[in-house]
Amino acid sequence: MEFITVDNQFEKHIALIRLNRPKELNALNLQLMGELRDALAELDADDEVRVVILTGNEKAFAAGADIKQMAGKTAIDMLITDQFSTWDQIKKTKKPLIAAVSGFALGGGCELAMTCDMIVASESARFGQPEIKIGVMPGAGGTQRLTRAVGKARAMEMVLTGKFISAEEALAAGLINRIAPVEMYMEAAKDLAREIAAMSPVAARLAKESVNRAFETHLDEGLHFERKNFYMLFASEDQKEGMQAFVEKRKPEFKGK
Ligand code: CAA
Repeated sequence: MEFITVDNQFEKHIALIRLNRPKELNALNLQLMGELRDALAELDADDEVRVVILTGNEKAFAAGADIKQMAGKTAIDMLITDQFSTWDQIKKTKKPLIAAVSGFALGGGCELAMTCDMIVASESARFGQPEIKIGVMPGAGGTQRLTRAVGKARAMEMVLTGKFISAEEALAAGLINRIAPVEMYMEAAKDLAREIAAMSPVAARLAKESVNRAFETHLDEGLHFERKNFYMLFASEDQKEGMQAFVEKRKPEFKGK
């Protein structure tokens, strides 16, 4: 791995992936995205890992797709390379994925954070889809995920003017989960990860799938999907343990089975 670092034992049941092209503000070139896809697939298959945190550095989560790598390409190059196909794999990650964002989360960087399940931001975080300023538009989910997260008015303005929003604005708009001071945002992301890692990983997986389904289907189909997942959890040891622990007034010990 050249452009990311992976720690599968960041803490018990928590893995950390760090985007690591600091001089380029973590611009997302093809190699980096391929490394990220492979790392997530590996962590997804690692039974010890229950939650993954994805982060950059204090100055930048990621300043977007690598403009220098794209600048000279033709439409057919883009079609053949199909650079956003790696994103389809990332979206399929089964474990909860938390983006810990500080500094710039722009273009593909904002889209990558939105591909995660939750976003914890530092006070310095700036979110934006500035592609319009370089003659293009968001291509990795920005027009869809941002609109679903913050609504049409704000999404349209961000996509058409390229203006950034602050962490405060992002929180008020429902784009992110929480804000912490710059020195504390990783700790805040870890706190959230710890909370989730203490739950049943089987339940977390099906719950994540079910919430995501809400964005892909109509209500009846989504309710049906949710109900089946709920019933299916009664095949898990974790359901027996969770409910038994409640009855016995103790903390449950979930095994992911
Ligand atoms: N691609 C390639 N290189 C980038 C980059 C990007 N997206 N963003 C920053 N860099 C590079 C800069 O070229 C610069 O490299 P050099 O030192 O070799 O010149 C280095 O990172 C530091 O950047 P700046 O000197 O520009 O830093 P700054 O603090 O003055 O400005 C910034 C920061 C406002 C984020 C500015 O870098 C910027 O506007 N970056 C581009 C943001 C952008 O347009 N992102 C969208 C990309 S397209 C996309 O993402 C499509 C999609 O939907 C997936």
